Amino acid sequence: MAYVKPYCELCGKKHHPMQYENLQISLEDGIAVVTISREKALNALNSRTMEELQHFFGDAAHEIEGLKGIILTGAGEKAFVAGADITEFSGLSATDGMKLAKRGQDVFFLIEHFPKPVVASVNGFALGGGCELAMACHLRIAGEKAKFGQPEVNLGLIPGYGGTQRLIQYIGKTKAMELLMTADIIGAADAHQLGLVNYLVPSGAEIEKAKELIEKIATKAPFAIAKVIECVNAYYEEGVDGFWKEVDAFGECSGTEDFKEGAAAFVEKRKATFSGR
Ligand code: CAA
Repeated sequence: MAYVKPYCELCGKKHHPMQYENLQISLEDGIAVVTISREKALNALNSRTMEELQHFFGDAAHEIEGLKGIILTGAGEKAFVAGADITEFSGLSATDGMKLAKRGQDVFFLIEHFPKPVVASVNGFALGGGCELAMACHLRIAGEKAKFGQPEVNLGLIPGYGGTQRLIQYIGKTKAMELLMTADIIGAADAHQLGLVNYLVPSGAEIEKAKELIEKIATKAPFAIAKVIECVNAYYEEGVDGFWKEVDAFGECSGTEDFKEGAAAFVEKRKATFSGR
């Protein structure tokens, strides 16, 4: 059953259409592939692109019937996303900078909390806001040419879209501190070895691997998957007791038709057919 969100998460209004300029979206077999398409600027995240990501993840994607999951990628062979758009930064005041960072964090929060799997397919540079965007996704696939880094200190900045926090979550404080202070850019093999990405695949095979993962997850109970996402995220949320969240979520799952079906299928030694209820 499709999960339908009755209102836009950020503006509070009901679903409203938007013509995307910088996102290309294709939908096939319940998997949406969202391609950030500003190839000439290495898919840098300008404010319009952020607005479109906000609209898609906060609103439009919740309306897609039968959605299994979302793959996020960048146009062309060179970059996933080379960061926030630096050309929009000049002349920012301290207050403007705070607003920009908070807005970016809010948009990426929508991705991290999306109730279906969101997989980053990283085909090239994932730098600054691009690395942060990949880290906001639930899973990451890196092609051999992928490169990751948080080079903001080169610009006199720091990551603003959650990079200082999520990098530690994935690779630990030791390496996160090093990468954030040196601005070093690491290759796909190092990113894989550090645990920043789930899979390292040959160039060109990223989307296929992402689809394979989403198809596998789509065979599980959708409500349970949404609860896994909620509970795992809760571990990192201040003021939220993740263990209690798990107790609540376990209770909610126990009351679903899908749990009855899953348990019955196990006993009857057959494959479960989940309805999402
Ligand atoms: N913003 C705007 N434009 C960008 C961009 C960015 N983040 N990254 C690349 N571009 C543009 C370049 O300006 C260039 O445009 P022109 O052709 O009009 O000159 C085009 O994309 C191609 O880039 P390069 O010619 O630089 O390509 P390269 O192969 O020589 O280098 C690169 C590739 C190493 C990725 C280099 O482009 C680079 O260092 N980019 C910036 C990376 C960066 O610092 N990202 C962090 C941004 S700040 C941030 O993200 C803050 C935050 O956390 C919110």
